[in-house]
Amino acid sequence: MDKRIYLCLAHMSGEEQAFIKEAFDTNWVVPLGPNVNAFEDELKHFVGQDKEVVALSAGTAAIHLGLIQLGVGAGDEVICQSFTFCASANPVAYQGAKPVFIDSEEDTWNMDPVLLEEAIKDRIAKTGKKPKAILPVHLYGMPARIDEICAIAAKYEIPVLEDAAEALGSEFNGRKCGTFGTFGVLSFNGNKMITTSGGGALIVPDESTKKQTMFYATQAREPFPHYQHEKIGYNYRMSNICAGIGRGQMTVLDEHIAHHRHVHALYENAFEGVDGITLKSNPDGRFNANYWLSTILIDPVKTGTNYDEVRRKLDERGIETRPLWKPMHLQPVYATNPCYVNGVSERLFNMGLCIPAGPWVADEDVAYIVEQIKGCCMK
Ligand SMILES: Cc1ncc(COP(=O)(O)O)c(C=O)c1O
Repeated sequence: MDKRIYLCLAHMSGEEQAFIKEAFDTNWVVPLGPNVNAFEDELKHFVGQDKEVVALSAGTAAIHLGLIQLGVGAGDEVICQSFTFCASANPVAYQGAKPVFIDSEEDTWNMDPVLLEEAIKDRIAKTGKKPKAILPVHLYGMPARIDEICAIAAKYEIPVLEDAAEALGSEFNGRKCGTFGTFGVLSFNGNKMITTSGGGALIVPDESTKKQTMFYATQAREPFPHYQHEKIGYNYRMSNICAGIGRGQMTVLDEHIAHHRHVHALYENAFEGVDGITLKSNPDGRFNANYWLSTILIDPVKTGTNYDEVRRKLDERGIETRPLWKPMHLQPVYATNPCYVNGVSERLFNMGLCIPAGPWVADEDVAYIVEQIKGCCMK
């Protein structure tokens, strides 16, 4: 095959440039404006549950502002999912607080509720105080066991900040991921379900929290004619140009999600009954993943190969794949942080690959990818 097949490339609707042109024509080339307001309204409508949405410069910024508003500060602990991208946990460290890592459970690959409760009890026993927040992730767009996580959080009265950066459009029990916690986080980075080139959003409970989020995102400027500051703020607002891209992308969001699910269904069909290759799918009818990236586990004993060998061979054959996220409790930067592990995420990391899924992946590409993977895995 001549062309290269990528994991998830940005895909434009064609409407984006009209929104950007309008911003230029009206000189709204600033980090606020009509595109920002309209993009927020469209996202609010999309996620539902009477939430409000604030558009920001990145998903990482959204996590940071969520933590700040939950009062996370120096000396606090925040319970984080270990199996994730570093951006889920790094903002905890920005605050001088300590991420405490929780391993995954097998069905969703996300935060294990059993370990979560054990960890809460143990942290209270060891430090004499409760963790300040719980930060589960809906990894690769697969909803976490968010009902159980929220029930435990409510029992110990600890707020939840949901990282739905990879899960725009995913649902648990018909409700959008990102709307279960006090705060929810979305990312519009270049490789996500939709993109604003770079950007993110914080899903917040109400209008006053929206105002507060905007306050922190614009350098915490107090309402005086001069520049008055009583708190530390940040420059985290989304620009009106990026929001124009976002508005264009909203016109194809449903199509993008449908396409990711379609590609996953093709993989499901193709890998069914193949010994040694397991595709990750919804555990039961309550879970409705957006399948941002499809993922497979390769059993070295049954296939006589391993994920990294397959990755290298696929690369030579024009197919981009990527190892699963390396768990945070195994990262040198977090080596001394407390962690509650059961071996699941480490095993996944040593067996798994993300395979192409985005809007540019055609049915014949899926057939080619499957053929190549099967070819690599024949003993
Ligand atoms: C799970 C997860 N959390 C947070 C982020 C951070 O988002 P951003 O890149 O928009 O800062 C990302 C993606 O990049 C992610 O995959």
